[in-house]
Amino acid sequence: MRVLVTGGAGFIGSQAVAALAARGHDPVVLDALLPSAHPEPPPPHPDAELIHGDVRDPATVLRALRGVDAVCHQAAMVGLGRDFADAPAYVGCNDLGTAVLLAAMAETGVAELVLAGSMVIYGEGRYDCARCGPVRPGPRAAADLDAGRFEPRCQVCGAELTPGLVTEDAPADPRNVYAATKLSQEHLAAAWARATGGRAVALRYHNVYGPGMPRDTPYAGVASFFRSALARGEAPRVFEDGRQRRDFVHVRDVAEANATALEALHGREPGVLTPYNAGSGAPHTVGEMASALARAYGGPAPEVTGEYRLGDVRHITADSSRLAADLGWKARVGFAEGMAEFAASALRRGTETSE
Ligand SMILES: NC(=O)c1ccc[n+]([C@@H]2O[C@H](COP(=O)([O-])OP(=O)(O)OC[C@H]3O[C@@H](n4cnc5c(N)ncnc54)[C@H](O)[C@@H]3O)[C@@H](O)[C@H]2O)c1
Ligand SMILES: [Zn+2]
Repeated sequence: MRVLVTGGAGFIGSQAVAALAARGHDPVVLDALLPSAHPEPPPPHPDAELIHGDVRDPATVLRALRGVDAVCHQAAMVGLGRDFADAPAYVGCNDLGTAVLLAAMAETGVAELVLAGSMVIYGEGRYDCARCGPVRPGPRAAADLDAGRFEPRCQVCGAELTPGLVTEDAPADPRNVYAATKLSQEHLAAAWARATGGRAVALRYHNVYGPGMPRDTPYAGVASFFRSALARGEAPRVFEDGRQRRDFVHVRDVAEANATALEALHGREPGVLTPYNAGSGAPHTVGEMASALARAYGGPAPEVTGEYRLGDVRHITADSSRLAADLGWKARVGFAEGMAEFAASALRRGTETSE
């Protein structure tokens, strides 16, 4: 199958290209090589032709779709950005870009799509209150965070909450521009599927890490922050109390999820986009991750600083069982093994404002 991988020069896209080629498919890459993501042009991918162009440009996208059976849409501006002034750029690349791509797919009759989604659309994950049942706490107050009260509390009775696993039916609650654009991409893809009879899957990745991860980035980059600090001979600085939970999923597993989903599209119901969480299924705290990485690197032990970022959620961990049940995908790279490999592998050059 010939697959157009948009953003195929990026961290995840380049591994998706490799996974597709390994399965005997014929990937082709469309990537704008955004300077924020690639301060230096990446080396050519051994497995795919690169079309250097922008998903916002209809003529380029039409050309890239020639002879293509399915699209793996990874291209996006990622990260939190510098400030709100970046909003038009995020919306342009992520939402206008997706609309241009989908319109070109409608025009050329390419009817199969796997979209790179994100867990950021959920906001503050899922919690249970012993008295009130499942609750969805709002953003945490600066006063609480300043006082070291990091755990969100039940907004009804004020009790402490137990974090749980987020399922795909959890309501969306995007809390920054990037998250809003990722949710909008899913809505656009669902509208495209309905209008054209297309088949679509959105893979909502959790915190992806692994070789080729850009360094020092403000988003999803907590693993890369720590890895960059270790490379400078410094201790990883862990915010809050280090007990915030995440699901760290290896980039090769995410690439395999893409290839698996692409191969399964043909048999799916037309006219529908189905979202799937793509996580490792084994939550870990950020503190544990920092320790595992520091140990594997042979660097100084992490420092827990109590600092915080107002936009961060406390816990966000996935229930990825739907992806396992429907498509037979399961993360294979274990936490200790993946972190040891990540400690030993190079980061991609990056800048402060991009992932
Ligand atoms: N890294 C994570 O932890 C994570 C988590 C959830 C979702 N995602 C999603 O995964 C996808 C890939 O992210 P990544 O981490 O590999 O980031 P990345 O920055 O390494 O890759 C994104 C690629 O898209 C390209 N691109 C951006 N805008 C473009 C445009 N307008 N036209 C053509 N190409 C364009 C960039 O040049 C880059 O090569 C994104 O859609 C992102 O939202 C990533
Ligand atoms: Zn309660």
